[in-house]
Amino acid sequence: MKLTTIGCGYLGAVYAAAMASLGHDVVGLDVDEAKVAALNEGRAPFYEPALDDLIAESLRTGRLRFSTDYAQAATQQVHVICVGTPQQIDGPGADLRYVDAALDALAPHLDRSPDGPSLVVGRSTVPVGTATRLRERLAAASSAALLAWNPEFLREGFAVEDTLRPDRIVYGLPEDPDEARRAREILDAVYASPLAEGTPLVVGNYATAELVKVSANSFLATKISFINAIAEVCEASGADVSTIARAIGYDDRIGPKFLRAGIGFGGGCLPKDIRAFMARAGELGVTDALSFLREVDTLNNRQRDRVVNMTHRALGGTFTHKRIAVLGAAFKPDSDDIRQSPALYIASKLSGRGADVVVTDPAAADNVHAQRPNLAIAPDALTAAQGADIVLLLTEWAQFRALDPVALREVVATPWIIDGRNALDPQRWRDAGWTYQSIGRP
Ligand SMILES: NC(=O)c1ccc[n+]([C@@H]2O[C@H](COP(=O)([O-])OP(=O)(O)OC[C@H]3O[C@@H](n4cnc5c(N)ncnc54)[C@H](O)[C@@H]3O)[C@@H](O)[C@H]2O)c1
Repeated sequence: MKLTTIGCGYLGAVYAAAMASLGHDVVGLDVDEAKVAALNEGRAPFYEPALDDLIAESLRTGRLRFSTDYAQAATQQVHVICVGTPQQIDGPGADLRYVDAALDALAPHLDRSPDGPSLVVGRSTVPVGTATRLRERLAAASSAALLAWNPEFLREGFAVEDTLRPDRIVYGLPEDPDEARRAREILDAVYASPLAEGTPLVVGNYATAELVKVSANSFLATKISFINAIAEVCEASGADVSTIARAIGYDDRIGPKFLRAGIGFGGGCLPKDIRAFMARAGELGVTDALSFLREVDTLNNRQRDRVVNMTHRALGGTFTHKRIAVLGAAFKPDSDDIRQSPALYIASKLSGRGADVVVTDPAAADNVHAQRPNLAIAPDALTAAQGADIVLLLTEWAQFRALDPVALREVVATPWIIDGRNALDPQRWRDAGWTYQSIGRP
């Protein structure tokens, strides 16, 4: 199949390279010239394990190229919209201007492919009702082009694997049966490989496909805030949240994943998706149905401030002249993404309150420097911890989990660590002479 991916960020770049590696001919379009240049040189413009190799390999086959020129879309039949849908600057809803701009830029190049009428595939996460609106916008540009919604579920840090071997594929198809059949045929050809491998396929209408994505993210966010709420009760009562999580996780109705208490969720998806979902529910007149998500969001934000307060207490009630080593800035390990990162929020807050903060992160240092030039950055944990009055583990990178508490103790001023991700073995750190604190564990 001949595809364009429109928007080559965390979603689109991985999708473009993965689709080319599955045998399709792919043009990745983006408005960001620097990003396109890096991609054409075989470099991912962000950190994602295995992505550089996948891009370079796909470029070598000749089936993948990147461009800022929308005219390149004319030869392609399927156009996959992967642009960002961030939170609006002045409200909780999703900012759809990039989706609209992508469709408008694509419009003059539709239906010129020799392979047949165009299929526009929405893959960005959007509020329910967006596809129906875009379908009308598309119809004004082309009488033949079809629209389908096909949400993305990749996890940063596992994006290549998740895109090549998704755990499910969801199609949101047009109401008209003939349009739905033709759109489905094209999507089936795009996903021939994963479908042949038995990937479950779930088919619904536009609204269902849009809601699948935000429902999944809302559920995950709720699970995280749930265990963080339990952690707070554990701290007040002397129970251990990690033991509770393990015990309830054996119930397969609950499951063990996403039950690690910590500083909460962040990134370019969960926070903005639950807020946009609430905003959309309000527009649909069902505000109360999702009012629990407000609590999920509040609980999540509270976790960050709880760690700031915990640090303040540990330092004897002052940040002045206190040196704090922060291990991790990305919102999760194996990513350089600092969007809505709880780690970066905490580091910035501590710095803003007068502490001498040194941050280290294996992949996100450049992004931190670009966005928070005031924060000092160290190349590794041992350097960051030199002379520290306290160490905070805020992103559970493997290299931080593997730190030797004895060696780290040699360089700090005070061996006190707050494990904001419940990622370390408390006994091992205490045995090495550390005061070890974590979330919801005695
Ligand atoms: N990042 C994830 O883990 C993930 C997972 C699932 C779904 N999503 C969803 O995917 C979408 C994209 O997210 P992302 O993380 O890749 O965002 P991103 O900001 O990394 O990438 C968006 C890209 O779109 C480009 N762009 C903006 N306007 C454009 C236009 N008119 N034409 C062409 N390119 C344009 C930007 O330059 C940027 O490179 C969002 O809706 C997000 O919610 C993301």
